[in-house]
Amino acid sequence: MTQHQRLLIIDFGSQVTQLIARRLRELNVYCEIHPYNKVTDAFLRDFAPRAVILSGGPDSVTRAGSPRAPESLWTMGVPVLGICYGQQTMMTQLGGKVESGHGTAEFGRAFVTPTEERLAILNGWFEDGREQVWMSHGDHVSQIAPGFKVYGTSPNAPFAITADVERNFYAVQFHPEVHHTPKGARLYENFVRLAGFTGDWTMAGYREQAIQKIREQVGDKKVICGLSGGVDSSVAAVLIHEAIGDNLTCVFVDHGLLRKGEAEEVVTMFRDHYNMQLIAADESDLFLGALEGVSDPEVKRKTIGKLFIDVFQKYANRIEGAEFLAQGTLYPDVIESVSFSGGPSVTIKSHHNVGGLPEKMGLKLVEPLRELFKDEVRALGRELGLPAKFIGRHPFPGPGLAIRCPGAITREKLAILREADAVYIDQIRKHGLYDEIWQAFVAILPVRTVGVMGDGRTYDYACALRAVTSVDGMTADYYPFSHEFLGETATRIINEVKGINRVTYDITSKPPGTIEWE
Ligand code: XMP
Repeated sequence: MTQHQRLLIIDFGSQVTQLIARRLRELNVYCEIHPYNKVTDAFLRDFAPRAVILSGGPDSVTRAGSPRAPESLWTMGVPVLGICYGQQTMMTQLGGKVESGHGTAEFGRAFVTPTEERLAILNGWFEDGREQVWMSHGDHVSQIAPGFKVYGTSPNAPFAITADVERNFYAVQFHPEVHHTPKGARLYENFVRLAGFTGDWTMAGYREQAIQKIREQVGDKKVICGLSGGVDSSVAAVLIHEAIGDNLTCVFVDHGLLRKGEAEEVVTMFRDHYNMQLIAADESDLFLGALEGVSDPEVKRKTIGKLFIDVFQKYANRIEGAEFLAQGTLYPDVIESVSFSGGPSVTIKSHHNVGGLPEKMGLKLVEPLRELFKDEVRALGRELGLPAKFIGRHPFPGPGLAIRCPGAITREKLAILREADAVYIDQIRKHGLYDEIWQAFVAILPVRTVGVMGDGRTYDYACALRAVTSVDGMTADYYPFSHEFLGETATRIINEVKGINRVTYDITSKPPGTIEWE
C-alpha cells in the first residue's frame, strides 16, 4: 500500500490546534495531531514525519517543568515550524530566551512588517508593506537562539517571525491558522512546499487506501454496521461494503421516531441501490410502547438509548460469525486533547462508542473515518457516489422525533409532526435554503389552540418551526427567514397538515436555548 507523506503536529494545548490541521488538509497534506506528552523520541522516529509543526499552548515556557518538544526533533533533519508557544519552546530549547509579561502581552490583531531579509515561507507576504496577523501571547521571546535571524516584527513582538534557514527551523509568534491572519494559509502552503509535500492527500487516494486497510484488518471475517441514514454511518457503510461486499451486514433500527419516508428511503438506497445485506428492524411498537406516558426528556433519552442497545444486540447476534462492529467515528472525536487543569492529562472522547456495545458483545471496532473531518467525510461520500441528499443532510438526533414532541408522545402527535416537518423541509429546499441552514425541524407543542377555518371553529395543535445556523452545534443562531417565507410556510402547514392550526417561529439562540426543544 502506498503511504502518503505525513506531517506531525505536536499539540501544546492551544484552542486552535485543530485549525492547523484544517489548513493543511486543505492543501492536500496529511497530518496528525498528537499531544506533546505522547510524542517521545521513539514516537517521532516511528511516525517518520516529513515536517513537524509545534502548536501554541496556554502554559509558559518560563515555568519549570513546562512542556517541551522531544530533543531528537532538532537533529532529525526535517523542517520545523513553531507557532506561539511552539516558537517559545523552540527558542528555549535551542539556546534563546523567553520572558514573561512586562507589558508586552499581545492579544488580537497586530501588524507585522518585514526586515531586510527575505524568507521562503513568506512568499506572497508583504506585497503592501505589512500584514495583519492574530496574536495571543503573554510571554515573548527576548533573545533568539544562535543561528536564527529575524524576518518580521510587530510593535510588541520584535521577534514575530524568526528562522534558522540553514536548519529549516521557522518560528512565528502569531497564529497563521486563524481566519484573522489573512495570509496565514499562504504561509502554511509555503512551508509544506518547502518541506517537499506534493499534495498527495486526495479523496480518490484515501478511498483506495481505506479499502485496502479495511481488507487487511477484517480479512474474511464479518462486520456489523449500525446504519442510521446519517452522513457518517452512510459513508462508513458504503466504504466498508466496497471493501468486503456481503461480509458486511447493516442493521437499521426503526424506532418509530423517524421522519416521514425516512425508513423507506434508507432501505431503498442501501438494499436496492447498493445491494447491501441490510436488516431493517421495525421495532416501533416496542419503542413507542415503552415511551407511553413518558414526558420527561431525560427519561425519554434513557429509555430509547437502552432499548436501542438491546435491539441492536438482538439483531447483531443473528449475524453468525460477526467479529467486527463498524462505527462512523470522526477525527475530531479521537483527537487526544491536552488538558492543563490538573497537570498534563489526556482525555479521549468516546461518545461514539454507544453504551460500550463493542466490549459487551466482544466485537472489535472498524472505524474507517477516524482520520477525517466532517467535510472530508462528505467529500469521500461524493467520491463513493452517494447522492447529495444523503451527504448534505442536517444532523438528526438519536432519540429522533421523541425530543421534538414535548410532553407525552402519542402516535397521533407523531403523525402530525411528520407531515408538518415534511412540508417545512420541502419549503426550505424549494427556496434553496437547505444548505445554508445547519439544522431545521418542526416541534409539535403540547397545547391546542382555537382557530377558525372556513366557517368552522378548529381546536388543534400548535407547532414551532426551528432553523439554526451553527458550526458544531455547540452554539447556534436562529436563521433569519424572510417574513414572506415564514408566512407562506405557515399557510402551507395549516392548509396541508390536518391537526395543526397555529404555527410559530422559534427565534431563541443557543445559549441560552438549546437547538432541540427537549
Ligand atoms: P441541543 O439541543 O443540545 O443539540 O442544542 C445540539 C445537537 O445535538 C443533537 N442532539 C442529540 N443527538 N442524541 C443525539 O444523537 C441526543 O440525545 C441529542 N440531543 C440533541 C441536536 O439534534 C443538535 O444537532
